Amino acid sequence: MRLLSTEHLTREFGGVIAVNDVSFNVEKGLVTGLIGPNGAGKTTLFNQITGVDKPTRGNIIFDGQDITGFPAWKVSRLGIARTFQNIRLYKELTVVENVMTGLHFKVGKDPFHGRFLQALKSYAFAQRENREVYGKAMEWLRFFDLDSHAQDFARSLPYGMQRELEIARALAADPKLLFLDEPAAGMNPAETEHLMEVVDKIRSLGVTVVLIEHDMKLVMNICDQITVLNFGTKIAEGTPQAIKQDKAVIEAYLGKEEE
Ligand SMILES: Nc1ncnc2c1ncn2[C@@H]1O[C@H](COP(=O)(O)OP(=O)(O)OP(=O)(O)O)[C@@H](O)[C@H]1O
Ligand SMILES: [Mg+2]
Repeated sequence: MRLLSTEHLTREFGGVIAVNDVSFNVEKGLVTGLIGPNGAGKTTLFNQITGVDKPTRGNIIFDGQDITGFPAWKVSRLGIARTFQNIRLYKELTVVENVMTGLHFKVGKDPFHGRFLQALKSYAFAQRENREVYGKAMEWLRFFDLDSHAQDFARSLPYGMQRELEIARALAADPKLLFLDEPAAGMNPAETEHLMEVVDKIRSLGVTVVLIEHDMKLVMNICDQITVLNFGTKIAEGTPQAIKQDKAVIEAYLGKEEE
């Protein structure tokens, strides 16, 4: 079943066509990979769908609803969460508090400037008034094997764990669809291995995942479907096996990777 599709989606920046007439589908329950060379338009495509930016042309359909041009908060309310290419954590909050902000993202009207962040300044208050939220956040940390770091400051975590913490916070908002922009970037092999297990577990929860990744081992191992962009245009779509053998993909991307 189709959960999301874009129809002729286009985003121009002045003379640059960052995303060019991309029609792309995401099937419910699957992990979809979005790959392509640097500057291919992958992040721009994510930004259009998640309401960080508005498309120049085209449409975005999520769960049967046209969400084109919806602001980010509205998109997240509907059940789409994301992480960013550059880590965006509250580095001065603890690990568990970061996940708690994700839980409040679900219920708060304007969570980033709302009362809740004020409340978080007092850990005692958070514990007293938000016991339930705290418990739920701890469950998410256990899911990611991060529970032993719950009381550490986010900034003190190793890089790979910070990336996973960002995913935990996004998942805490209980999305139907989760976008991950280069989740393995900067991770060492052991961290990447752990991430692959985590993505598998996320799929088991029934959450649909779309991920941008340059690590081909990860992409080929965990994706059910792959879409390939090059210069803003979709050049291929298919199973990892088919993508590996696709001439246009090898020429534009995979071939160069191996050089
Ligand atoms: N806000 C912007 N203003 C102008 N040009 C932009 C803007 N955002 C992206 N671009 C351009 O759009 C193109 C696509 O960029 P995008 O960041 O989407 O690529 P990407 O596939 O995510 O690349 P990478 O793998 O390096 O992250 C690039 O040429 C980029 O310079
Ligand atoms: Mg990018």
